[in-house]
Amino acid sequence: MAKAKVKSIGTAVPAKILSNFDLEKMVETSNEWIVERTGIHQRHIAAHGQTTSDLSAEATLRALDAAGVSPADVDLIIVATITPDMQLPATACLVQDKIGAKKAWGFDMSIACSGFLYAMQVGAQFIQSGAHKNVVVIGVDVMSSIIDYTDRQTCIIFGDGGGAAVITATESDDEVGFIDFIHEVDGSGGEFLCLPAGGSKLPTSHETVDKRLHFVHQEGKVVFKYATRKMPELCSRLLERNGLTGEDVDVFIPHQANLRIITSACERLKMPIERVVINIDEFGNTTAGTLPLAIESAIAKGQLKKGDLVLFATVGAGFSAGAMLMRWGF
Ligand code: UT7
Repeated sequence: MAKAKVKSIGTAVPAKILSNFDLEKMVETSNEWIVERTGIHQRHIAAHGQTTSDLSAEATLRALDAAGVSPADVDLIIVATITPDMQLPATACLVQDKIGAKKAWGFDMSIACSGFLYAMQVGAQFIQSGAHKNVVVIGVDVMSSIIDYTDRQTCIIFGDGGGAAVITATESDDEVGFIDFIHEVDGSGGEFLCLPAGGSKLPTSHETVDKRLHFVHQEGKVVFKYATRKMPELCSRLLERNGLTGEDVDVFIPHQANLRIITSACERLKMPIERVVINIDEFGNTTAGTLPLAIESAIAKGQLKKGDLVLFATVGAGFSAGAMLMRWGF
């Protein structure tokens, strides 16, 4: 079986920034509260008409360029998002057209904050099986399209943006690549973080619009409790079954949902904070976009280098959660 690795990363965020001070003018909140409770200082927000496929195509072209792979040589495009341009067609089809990936097939994955990690896993399987040479995995969300900017508990967290990874096979003498993963869902938590209307359960009607049911509904405390318990639990199990401890990990890249969730996980994992990638202050929670943005931040800061042992972790709507180990590929 071939071994898969991440060959390159590209990211894209909208130019417009929404700061905590901007939010102070929109809802009853304060910069101090947001920073203290979440660690977020600002987030990027899409311009009118700027879509998930636009940001995905931008990020993908950057990633392909960095990998030295032509769009014509892409075999498969997987887009992890909960904010597709439209319910149908799949955003992967729109990206395929925008980047001119003539021979690629593709599909979307809707698993919220866990999207990019799960999509990387799926993409890696197509390399490992030998079916494909170049897989593009995208994690992008335009959360501002489904956020209620009158709901102060929710609107302060989310931002727009994300990135793409090119996944290929490793060279035969390369020690890098995907190592192991544990992914888990618990649908009994579905109601605590959901978008109630617009699906087959509650199709769009005047009533659903009037009741503001097309926006994200989040019971923050419940999600917070699940996240602080599940993230370290999955990481510990994954490390243990690979004969490792937090000490062996060079770089920990967690989903950026709330700084307090990240620091709590680090304490439980005994992970020194200098090994943790944190960029929530700059981007907020971009749902499927947080991990590629965090990877890019880590590379830019010189925090992540070829051969590093990386532990990824995610948790979010579903409930869904995951942890993945890899030796970094470039
Ligand atoms: O990535 C997807 C997964 N999502 C998450 O992981 C999110 C997890 N949850 C959270 O990050 C946090 O629960 C929130 C940031 C959403 C909320 O923080 P919290 O510390 O759990 O606040 P809370 O809901 O318990 O509210 C505490 C107080 C309340 O006031 P009272 O009842 O104590 O008087 C809220 O009304 O803070 C108030 N509050 C605010 N005050 C100022 C809630 N939101 C705000 C706000 N500004 N934006």
